[in-house]
Amino acid sequence: MAALYNNGLNGNPHFLVEGGRPLRGVFKVPGAKNAALPIIAGTILAPGRLTLGRVPDISDVRVMLELLNHMGAEIELDDNGILSIDTTALKSVPAPYSLVKKLNASFDITGALVARFGEAMVPMPGGCVIGTRAVDQHLMGFRLLGCDVRSEPGGFVAVKASGLVGNRIRFAKTSVGATKNVMMAACMARGRTVLENVAREPEVVDLANFLAACGASINGQGSSRIEISGVRGMSGAGVRYNIISDRLVAGTYLLAAAITRGEITATGVEPEHLKAFIRKLRKTGQDLTVGEDFIHLRGVSPILSAGAVIAEPYPAFPTDLQPPMVAYLSLAQGVSYVKEKIFDMRFNYVDDLRRMGANIEVDSNTAVVRGVERLMGAPIDAPDIRAGAALVLAALAAEGTSQVHGLHFIDRGYEKMEERLSALGASIRRVAGDADRH
Ligand code: EPZ
Repeated sequence: MAALYNNGLNGNPHFLVEGGRPLRGVFKVPGAKNAALPIIAGTILAPGRLTLGRVPDISDVRVMLELLNHMGAEIELDDNGILSIDTTALKSVPAPYSLVKKLNASFDITGALVARFGEAMVPMPGGCVIGTRAVDQHLMGFRLLGCDVRSEPGGFVAVKASGLVGNRIRFAKTSVGATKNVMMAACMARGRTVLENVAREPEVVDLANFLAACGASINGQGSSRIEISGVRGMSGAGVRYNIISDRLVAGTYLLAAAITRGEITATGVEPEHLKAFIRKLRKTGQDLTVGEDFIHLRGVSPILSAGAVIAEPYPAFPTDLQPPMVAYLSLAQGVSYVKEKIFDMRFNYVDDLRRMGANIEVDSNTAVVRGVERLMGAPIDAPDIRAGAALVLAALAAEGTSQVHGLHFIDRGYEKMEERLSALGASIRRVAGDADRH
């Protein structure tokens, strides 16, 4: 059968998926990638040995830890997601491009470095397939706190301040990254800082709560206005902090159960963080039981149209569940309209779904998804983390065999995805693939 896929794609590691098997069982939701990354950056502000619980075992976290280790942090990560870290010996050395290019979120160390050391030299984040990753709001916030910001040769940006001073900062655009970065820069600025039009995502709230546990004075996290009173110093000594669960991984696995007409219980989840998503899943006919820290889904046929799904800032439907939702809706009865209002190129995976038989038309930032009876397995290629998850979901529901390439993206955001899915009854395995063709 493998010969059928001799399309040049099979020269690298991929998932081999046999579709049509309903997922059943219990899935323990890991810690949130988008909280763990800024919180690890936030340890730069708080010297002293601290412990973080529920750190997800994903490559993005490993890159961020490698970056901090390169700068002098002492790090121990055990097999249970317990991270012990001490940034006492950290130095503000230029972040190596080889690491930053792998991880846009590594730009989030800038605010913490300039707060602790008065300077940071960080490569500008690379672009990525879901759209330009502008940082103008980050830099605007740093300038208003008294930083001198200038471009340096080699695509670096130097942020320097002889002393950060609190200010009123209104973001022109709601940005998760800018909110996190500028909030960290303001923690030890002299006086009071008011941030307006900030991101309200649970991961931003988690970062603020972690910083407060290390001595920062922050109020308003979760609303669109955060107030910070600068403190003279922060310390991580003896701090133990558990990272929130990953609402995006939880949503992905619930959709995997729904698309395969299975039945799973996602445990260790915070349903409060998924209200818009749960509403939409119920609208498509799924039978959901929501407890305090679990969500049980019993897959129901047929999948009904979701009507309009609009991906926009929290607490609306999350952009990171847009691709898996489109894969799920491709098997719905009727038409769904999925609008992406955050990133400008986030339908890059639709071509591969079409090759599997989906009927999806993309017009600027809206995908018109006309449900079809079935999808057919095919060789497919993940262009980013959440698109990769979408393609895996389609492969799980398709008739026949699929090869899913682009595992380096999937591994950035999903812990051992093939093991977790196999434990729920999926037929999926990681295949090394023969040597790369030249
Ligand atoms: C975070 O990215 C998440 N990543 C993304 O998750 C998520 O999709 C995104 O927030 C939106 O929720 C992490 O937390 C590590 P933004 P971030 O700054 O911070 C524009 C995943 O798969 N913008 O809110 O980069 C920007 O270009 C990833 O887990 C500016 O114009 O998102 C984008 O179009 C994908 N100027 C939009 O705002 C700026 O200064 C949202 O960006 C900053 C952003």
